[in-house]
Amino acid sequence: MADSHAKMTQATPQEIIISVLAGLFAPLLAIFLIVMLVLSIQDKHLPDTTSEAAQKATLDRIKPFAHLVALDANAPKVEKSGQEVFEAVCTTCHTPGALGAPKFGNKGDWGPRISQGYETLIKHALEGIRQMPPRGGDGDLSDTEVARAVAYMADAAGAKFKAPEAAAPAAPAAAAASAAKPDPSKGKAVYEANCAVCHATGVAGAPKMGDKAAWEPRVSQGYATLYSHALNGIRGMPAKGGNAGLSEADLANAVGFLMTQGGGKL
Ligand code: HEC
Ligand code: HEC
Repeated sequence: MADSHAKMTQATPQEIIISVLAGLFAPLLAIFLIVMLVLSIQDKHLPDTTSEAAQKATLDRIKPFAHLVALDANAPKVEKSGQEVFEAVCTTCHTPGALGAPKFGNKGDWGPRISQGYETLIKHALEGIRQMPPRGGDGDLSDTEVARAVAYMADAAGAKFKAPEAAAPAAPAAAAASAAKPDPSKGKAVYEANCAVCHATGVAGAPKMGDKAAWEPRVSQGYATLYSHALNGIRGMPAKGGNAGLSEADLANAVGFLMTQGGGKL
């Protein structure tokens, strides 16, 4: 019995070689398969840059930057609020009280200064006084912005100064819209030269020319609003479609063309 058992478990040299090779081969095969699996997964995850959807996604991603580039350099500067100016410029000295600056919110520091009156404080902030640099050292600040920051700081220490409001914007939209009565029949050529690059394909979310569904909600804003958005730009739509040299009459005609093609009435 013991004898036959020994015989059953005894392996021939070939069997030993085969089992050793198999023992080596099996892990190698497993490693090979894992590598192939990883490679194939990576392959599927490679960014797809060619399809229309992917290109649209890319455009959407770069839109904020593309839009910045398209910003009109002549666009009116948006003036900062007193708090914004303070946080950008004045806080450096006026929060810690550096160089002897009156500390933000400190009534003791500000009381005697406030009693000089708002006009004097503005003058000193604009021109500088002793260690206080003109405009807090930021020459790009407008008079209005400095005056607002002065009021912001002084009011935080108990004054009741009224900061200047924004200068009334020169309502360009309504005036220009009434000046330029659009003629859609003249707008087609302008459209083809300036607007089709986006509005023919709908790139970057532009409403497609003649697509009534895309234009319906826009048309319902009325011609004056559409014209103003085309003139000044809105989101992905650059001012004047990116052609600053376009005359307002041509632009109006193109808007009229897009609007009527989109099912709107002038
Ligand atoms: C580099 C530091 C510094 C910065 C930045 C700075 N200030 Fe001052 N500021 C001072 C100092 C110092 C004084 C005190 C000057 C003195 O009376 O000797 C002062 C005083 C003032 C006064 C009081 C002037 C008076 O007549 O009593 C006003 C108002 C003022 N700053 C406004 C501003 C505004 C607004 C900004 C931001 C746009 C600003 N400061 C930024 C240092 C600074
Ligand atoms: C660089 C691409 C581009 C060009 C060129 C372009 N547009 Fe647009 N336009 C857009 C995009 C994007 C929108 C959608 C903006 C939104 O509502 O987010 C749009 C929207 C509009 C709207 C609707 C605005 C609203 O309030 O709904 C009008 C009108 C318009 N464009 C007119 C024009 C005219 C006229 C031209 C040519 C002079 C032009 N566009 C050229 C991209 C462009």
